[in-house]
Amino acid sequence: MAQRPRTFKFEGITMSHYFTDNWEKVKNFKAKPDDVVIATYPKAGTTWMCEILDQLYFGEMRKEGSLSPLYERVPFLEVCIEELSKGTDQIESLTTSPRLIKTHLPVQLVPQSFWEQNCRMIYVARNPKDSMVSYYHFERMNKIQPDPGAWEEYIHKFNTGELVFGSWYDHVQGWWDKSKSYSRIHYVFFEDMKEFPPPQDAAREISRLCSFLGLSPAETQKQEVLRKTGFDEMKKNFADEISKIKIFDESISPFMRKGAVGDWKNHFTAAQNEAFDEEYRKKMKNSDLKFRMEI
Ligand code: PPS
Repeated sequence: MAQRPRTFKFEGITMSHYFTDNWEKVKNFKAKPDDVVIATYPKAGTTWMCEILDQLYFGEMRKEGSLSPLYERVPFLEVCIEELSKGTDQIESLTTSPRLIKTHLPVQLVPQSFWEQNCRMIYVARNPKDSMVSYYHFERMNKIQPDPGAWEEYIHKFNTGELVFGSWYDHVQGWWDKSKSYSRIHYVFFEDMKEFPPPQDAAREISRLCSFLGLSPAETQKQEVLRKTGFDEMKKNFADEISKIKIFDESISPFMRKGAVGDWKNHFTAAQNEAFDEEYRKKMKNSDLKFRMEI
């Protein structure tokens, strides 16, 4: 049974062995030109985007109620834990095309082959306060993550890049900067995907996504994707799948928790918020990347 890991620096990034044990295969992974990569810092809306993509490409061939787990439909490149197959093996066993591939790697650690093959990549970014709150609750319930400790201490670890997958600041800015020179990165904000009331929340972002991918689904198909990927629908459809993932303890916190923008207000004290804003301003002062902390 998986144990909570210690963290260490790997290529300068805080990591745990669950994401580095298979590194030779990850690093030398052979991408195909039509592979589509979904990249995020943890808790930015990865699962949501993966489900949207799977539904856009394969929704019509998948029967409702008979979906295989998302981690099989959209494998997690660098994951290597006893309870699941290695991400690289899962990708290689995919029979559908394009292959949809999830990663949390910072841009500089993405295997070379994806760039050489000119693959399309979708990066989802979420404001730091909600990302941190979501990651905190996730670490409480996920036994392959380090123990998050106390909330106050967690804010410090977030700001100093001590959480697994490193600094949120470096991650979001690294991918942002890369998107300026590599045109096949589509950079999406979680807050933009929540712009409209359900069930139309992600309607505009799905249209933009389709333009980027060269897809033109019929309006009925688009509405079906929106319906199936709404928070409540996904929470219901994922309940069984998530309950079977032994490393999760949903009695501590559910995986599909709130899916909201601004839940950080229920976690930060006024003093913590002020101190965080100050730190955020310093770290982002040279960046043209802007986040909305509320909508
Ligand atoms: S992971 O473990 O890094 O892959 O997690 P990730 O999927 O990136 O992020 C989980 C958060 O995304 C929320 N979520 C959604 N929000 C809105 N709509 C939909 N459909 C949706 N699906 C997942 C999920 O609830 C987590 O956020 P929090 O704030 O914890 O609720």
